[in-house]
Amino acid sequence: MTLLVVATGNPGKLREMQAYLADSGWELTLKPEELEIEETGDTFAANACLKASQVALATGNWAIADDSGLQVDALNGTPGVYSARYGKTDSERIARLLNALGDEVHRGAQFVCAVAMARPDGAIALQSEGVCRGEILHTPRGHGGFGYDPIFYVQEMQLTFAEMTPELKRRVSHRGKAFTSLLQQIEKVRNYEL
Ligand code: IMP
Repeated sequence: MTLLVVATGNPGKLREMQAYLADSGWELTLKPEELEIEETGDTFAANACLKASQVALATGNWAIADDSGLQVDALNGTPGVYSARYGKTDSERIARLLNALGDEVHRGAQFVCAVAMARPDGAIALQSEGVCRGEILHTPRGHGGFGYDPIFYVQEMQLTFAEMTPELKRRVSHRGKAFTSLLQQIEKVRNYEL
């Protein structure tokens, strides 16, 4: 199995990626703790590439990174790449977003996830992106998930992300779609066919 360093210090994210990439033939491991990478890009894809490339270069291994966030149409795509930095806690971030939207009737939004994989020399070998469209509710619903999940309603399922089972969320979410598309190409990457 080829080692694939996940550009995160978060064991939860490692477990999630392991679930998506199970049976893919890659052995996933966390990046060294002391290796900190600032997310200075202004797109999700730029941040994913930056993290994957720097971790690959620093460790001399293949590396994978993702970057994700919420874009609200009526707020010109805010909070976007600042989703994690939009407040100190999940409830603060949700309160700030609901306040910014106020009584706006156009409540369309999307979650986006960009994934990038880098070769040991830091070159980007593979990129994918997944998008999930939804609407921002006026009040939170459901207790599952994390982050903005309780206010993100998916019309197709008539559920918020926080009301979905983990399996359903994996299937319809931005992250699920990004990894499904990555999986379709990942075999070719190791064989240097991409
Ligand atoms: P990162 O990709 O780890 O940088 O996370 C970006 C931020 O976007 C998270 O801290 C959450 O606030 C938000 N976010 C990304 N994906 C989701 C999701 O599936 N549900 C809820 N919030 C999310």
